Amino acid sequence: MKYDFTKKIDRLNTGAYKYDFMPEPLRGSGIVPMTVADMEFSAPPKVNEAVAKAAFHGCYGYTGPQGEYLEAVRHWQKTRHDWDIEDDWYVVTNGVVQALGVAVRAFTKEGDGVIIQTPVYHPFYGAVRDNGRRIVENPLIANNGRYEMDFDDLEKKASDPSVKMMLLCSPHNPIGRVWTADELSRVADIAKRHGILVVSDEIHNDLIMPGNTHTVFAKVPGASDNCVVCTAISKTFNLAGLSCSNIFVPNALLKEKFAEQAHRDGCGCVPYIARFATIAAYNECADWLDELISVIRSNYALLCDFISERLPEFTVTPLEGTYLAWIDMRPLGLDHKALTEFLVEKAMIADNDGEMFGSAGEGFRRWNLALPESELHAALSRLEKAVKEYRK
Ligand SMILES: Cc1ncc(COP(=O)(O)O)c(C=O)c1O
Repeated sequence: MKYDFTKKIDRLNTGAYKYDFMPEPLRGSGIVPMTVADMEFSAPPKVNEAVAKAAFHGCYGYTGPQGEYLEAVRHWQKTRHDWDIEDDWYVVTNGVVQALGVAVRAFTKEGDGVIIQTPVYHPFYGAVRDNGRRIVENPLIANNGRYEMDFDDLEKKASDPSVKMMLLCSPHNPIGRVWTADELSRVADIAKRHGILVVSDEIHNDLIMPGNTHTVFAKVPGASDNCVVCTAISKTFNLAGLSCSNIFVPNALLKEKFAEQAHRDGCGCVPYIARFATIAAYNECADWLDELISVIRSNYALLCDFISERLPEFTVTPLEGTYLAWIDMRPLGLDHKALTEFLVEKAMIADNDGEMFGSAGEGFRRWNLALPESELHAALSRLEKAVKEYRK
């Protein structure tokens, strides 16, 4: 390994949500949390160097998307996703969640229906509800533990004329699916026939486990004219705090509408530091990402092996993409609040309650696997001990 993914980094008192907002008795205990989707690893050294250089320059002014920045974004999409993007498609926002809200406001009106596939990343609910739009659920179906789309239900929901948009999570947080080209082309077909605009949140697009392939939604035949694709440096390189996302809208009219709404919402700047971080990350850090993926993959293998050997009543959902594992702990027979209490108090584990992603997540937990292996092992050992005591 060229990079260090083993070191424990002290993040206490940095304002990190994961640490400084941790429930008692975990805060300050030294326990590494597996909650919020950022990583316990330092960003790539080349990014850190570029950020330090930009800081020493000293002028933290307003910065826009141009030149080397756009070149780097284009280079990454081409080399990593075989996607040719054009400058005209590009809009900057200060986060993908912000972009979801922009899209909802730009393309739907109050009362319109917006499809989401549940269980899903919880801000999808807010992007719809907080804007006075209506959530239309197209629940995912667990087939032997692997989640699939329910296309009959999607067709039915999409055929309601008051439904105007679908927020697609691709790859899907929290259930770890990387949707296949075939699945995405069925989504594109249904959406097109029923006049539904697809907003594809592809923030996890680079975190793909070996054996799976991420398909950019705009590359699905017939989809490019009817979609918004949201990407970012944040998950891929642990740069979420730099608040910078690259949104692509290939259809010129839709792009204009989206850009106008983004402007009304106050977007427009590439944060100064994010500019330099992006250029370094996209041009120089592909090898770091490859190593990161092997670390996630190996943590996932550790999780699966441990659970199947020592906690066989639990089930881990196959991880195709993201660094987020989805674990079925329903056999413990605890409701989600009691399960959280049990994990915090008896196992000293800070993870995410599956119920926050929708009612289908009751009894499930989301574990963030972007942490040193030794910390994951320690959490599993504490869990094993707690479960054994509970079973007594
Ligand atoms: C699917 C998905 N979309 C968006 C985000 C957050 O995006 P941002 O921080 O750019 O708003 C996350 C973070 O966990 C996510 O998992």
